[in-house]
Amino acid sequence: MTKSCSTEIKFSNGQKIPVELHKVRMVQKLHLKPVEERLAAMEKGGYNTFQLNTKDIFLDMLTDSGTNAMSDNQISSMLRADDAYAGSQSFYRMEEAVREVFGKHWVLPVHQGRAAENIISQAFIKKGDVIPMNYHFTTTKAHMELNGGEVLEIFTDEALKIKSDVPFKGNIDIKKLEGVVEKYGKDNVAFIRMEASTNLIGGQPFSIQNMREVRKVADKYGIMFVLDASLIGENAYFIKKREEEFKNAEISEILLLMCSFADVVYFSSRKVSSTRGGGICTNSEELFMKMRDLVVLFEGFVTYGGMSVREIEAMAVGLYETTDETVISQSPSFIEYAVTELDKLGVPVVTPAGALGCHVDAMDFLPHVPQSEYPAGALAAALFIISGIRGMERGTISSVRDAEGNDVLADVELLRLAFPRRVFTLSQTMYVVDRVNWLYKNRELVGGLVFTDEPAVLRFFNGRLKPTSDWPTKLVAKFKADFGDSL
Ligand code: F0G
Repeated sequence: MTKSCSTEIKFSNGQKIPVELHKVRMVQKLHLKPVEERLAAMEKGGYNTFQLNTKDIFLDMLTDSGTNAMSDNQISSMLRADDAYAGSQSFYRMEEAVREVFGKHWVLPVHQGRAAENIISQAFIKKGDVIPMNYHFTTTKAHMELNGGEVLEIFTDEALKIKSDVPFKGNIDIKKLEGVVEKYGKDNVAFIRMEASTNLIGGQPFSIQNMREVRKVADKYGIMFVLDASLIGENAYFIKKREEEFKNAEISEILLLMCSFADVVYFSSRKVSSTRGGGICTNSEELFMKMRDLVVLFEGFVTYGGMSVREIEAMAVGLYETTDETVISQSPSFIEYAVTELDKLGVPVVTPAGALGCHVDAMDFLPHVPQSEYPAGALAAALFIISGIRGMERGTISSVRDAEGNDVLADVELLRLAFPRRVFTLSQTMYVVDRVNWLYKNRELVGGLVFTDEPAVLRFFNGRLKPTSDWPTKLVAKFKADFGDSL
């Protein structure tokens, strides 16, 4: 096999420019609609970017979930899928891939990441338990709370700082972890959870050193250690780039080492292996048996777990591709380009650049919009209106209300602009930088949002909002004054 290399290529003038180390062989036409039509689409979508129709979107940067480009090898693998309810060869190929890439023997397929969270929460959380972790993810927290657990975030002091040069903001604070076990007692700690490339704080990785220390605490008290590996490929890439000890290691070695610390590893295949579905794996038959029958109950038979055999085949190939540095460096190198350019322009973005997306700090971007009026949601709506770029709110709208019905204000208000693997080009990335910068220069025109329809659970998905004033109309007028008839 040809040795893979990072997509971060040095140019002769010293600049680091990400280069697409793939060629485009199938394309999808995009539409850049006039600004008035984008405003109408945003109004129709209740100022929630989840409610938009992709026919109105130019660059869909909502998420990388299920939107990474699939490889030629993945697509072709789907043709040999073995249709069988039970015992499909497709499953055994996928099982083999999990064993080789993650080093775990017992494998359960599920229909996506949150299904794994449902199974793990049902199997291992009892009412009143706490679950310490580097940071929560929305669906993780929802499933844990549904099963009577309480999420405790024990991140380091650096984790929530927007501007930082700390390479591993996703680390767990070991002292706080010990404190949690002492306070609640080891029998009330369901398990410790670590999330690779910690999503909600800007795709920030943890180090191997930190995993080693977490493992020590887990061993000392006999507590289970669960790894959310949905973004493990990128985390492994950051370990190679940022942790001295691993600068010459192969990504495949780092992946195996990361998984070796955890008792249970679960993943959303929509992210890690660029297809659909998900999985749970472990080397403990006892833990496997605690989960197996829940998979049958909620997902489907244990050799398909709610997935089509075609998806399972593509998952197997995608897992092997996660060990390829060229594949997993693509999204981080484009993110780093966008973050560096925006930072140079003075736009507040999370640094160091992480995985998944470029994260814009909405509280600093829109200091005049109070958190109770959802600055990150407002910024997502405004950016779509002026550019056709769809980002995702990762702030208080993605949070919950407390028992009194008050918003639990998010620690950080971020607009996430996702870079699904091998989907966008450099000129599209330059367009993103330009439009975010234009919006920053005109930021005083952006106002807040208020809910008009608010679901009780995971409200950010289906909630509807409206602007607190006619700010969108004024924003469109300024856009037209500056750009004329250009879209
Ligand atoms: N864990 C992490 C770290 C995730 O980022 C996600 C999904 C899940 C679990 C749940 O997986 O969607 O397959 O059920 N993240 C997506 C996102 C939705 O856009 O960040 P799922």
